[in-house]
Amino acid sequence: MKTAVSLLAAFAFPALLSAQLPEGPGKEETMKQCRTCHEVARSISPRQDRDGWIGTMNKMVAFGMKTSDAEYALILDYLAKHYPAEDVPRVNVNTASAAELESILNLRRSQVKELIAYREKNGAFKKLEDLKNVTAIDFAKFEAKKDRILFQ
Ligand code: HEC
Repeated sequence: MKTAVSLLAAFAFPALLSAQLPEGPGKEETMKQCRTCHEVARSISPRQDRDGWIGTMNKMVAFGMKTSDAEYALILDYLAKHYPAEDVPRVNVNTASAAELESILNLRRSQVKELIAYREKNGAFKKLEDLKNVTAIDFAKFEAKKDRILFQ
């Protein structure tokens, strides 16, 4: 059993190290920094906007990542460009159908019903906090999916 596990690790490890990153400025720096403490595959797993990537980068700095300012900027540009939040399906809470709201925000039918009733009665939601008024849905649920919610 022990042999089987270490064999598996021996095969899996090179594959992770060689995870293919798209070409572009900042690739080398990202490859160098973002696999020092864990697999690069883990580093590039989030899909988030630039602010999100700043948050991740700063967290890694707090964990001990050492970069020059120039290197930090290059990596940030690289990650924000190649792994943006736009890959995530989004929903406009003011116009989306019940089915879209249910699937993209992972809500129950009864909750979506209240959301739609609220917007019909009170007009468009303008910002995340407005969704606090839909009391059938725990606000934390919206917060967790804020990257997916549009107000238009
Ligand atoms: C100095 C070590 C170090 C370096 C360098 C580093 N990380 Fe991390 N990273 C960590 C630690 C520690 C964790 C969380 C602990 C764990 O492994 O569970 C982590 C976790 C993560 C996670 C998982 C989600 C999260 O936020 O916890 C992501 C994403 C991530 N790192 C991205 C990156 C990126 C992108 C880079 C390169 C810019 C990078 N890391 C470089 C130490 C590092």
